[in-house]
Amino acid sequence: METVVSGIRPTGNLHLGNYFGAMKNFVKMQESNHCFFFIADYHSLTTHPTPEDLHGNVKNVLVEYLAAGIDPEKATIYIQSDVPEITELYLLLNMNAYLGELERCTSFKEKVRKQPENVNAGLLTYPTLMAADVIIHRAAKVPVGKDQAQNLEMMRTFARRFNRIYKVDYFPIPQAYNFGEALVKIPGLDGAGKMGKSEGEGNAVFLADSAEVIRKKVMRAVTDSGPTEMNQEKPEPIQNLFTLMEVVSTPDTVSFFDEAYNNCTVRYGDLKKQLAEDIISFTTPFREKILSLTEDTAYLRKVTSQGAEAARESAARTIREVREIIGFKTF
Ligand code: TRP
Repeated sequence: METVVSGIRPTGNLHLGNYFGAMKNFVKMQESNHCFFFIADYHSLTTHPTPEDLHGNVKNVLVEYLAAGIDPEKATIYIQSDVPEITELYLLLNMNAYLGELERCTSFKEKVRKQPENVNAGLLTYPTLMAADVIIHRAAKVPVGKDQAQNLEMMRTFARRFNRIYKVDYFPIPQAYNFGEALVKIPGLDGAGKMGKSEGEGNAVFLADSAEVIRKKVMRAVTDSGPTEMNQEKPEPIQNLFTLMEVVSTPDTVSFFDEAYNNCTVRYGDLKKQLAEDIISFTTPFREKILSLTEDTAYLRKVTSQGAEAARESAARTIREVREIIGFKTF
């Protein structure tokens, strides 16, 4: 069993793209690894320091991940700020993190551009906090996407540097967790590119969306004026609808509309109606779970307190050993 750590930013809701991307793999990953999933609420303060939103955002993400299949009996689920040991390791790692390398990180430079009015030290040291998140459990693997490749590289640098400076072989050098099969890319509804919450209203279908909202979004999806030649290649907006259908509809439905497209009799209205209903059938169980978990404060409290306890046990061991390695001693 390998130890795997994954951090989740408490922003936004899960959409079908997240589900068929990372989420489904997380659910599989927890079966055969020692997984720590945590909600990165400290990290969120670097960009969203809004007390009124903080708890609600954390709760949202917690509820949706549980609804999507993260299982507290199989994995350790916790909230980053419930584990103060992480901040201690963060402080210690910062002593060996250099201004130049932190300033050169593309995510930092991007944030400087995006929020020039708030270039805080938390943004600068985001990579050391992220390294602390992972190496606090002496994890071997981190399931991160391409956008986090540089942060992963920084983690590796900090873990290696700690080992070198203190002449120990203490921290494993974390590696990317590879999901065997290629990740399924789910397109959005706006005719171009993948599903994403930042691509504009209506582009993404969220697991928590009501049937009514889903129908509206799908009926508004971008199409064209229809095929004019038999068996012509589908332009992107149309292919995107078929790709969505492939994940939520039966093979019969897909081939029915595929044939209709190929002989130029397809009616996009019918296709969208069918697609909307199939998406609804797929998301309804998730939505119901989300709604019931949202009400179940006692359960959420139990999950997060058990998660915090298990995470702190693992983290406290590391901190004890790290303090010894660094040379702290009690009188
Ligand atoms: N930076 C990650 C993101 O933006 C979230 C994150 C924080 C994380 N700490 C982590 C991911 C540790 C993996 C491991 O998505």
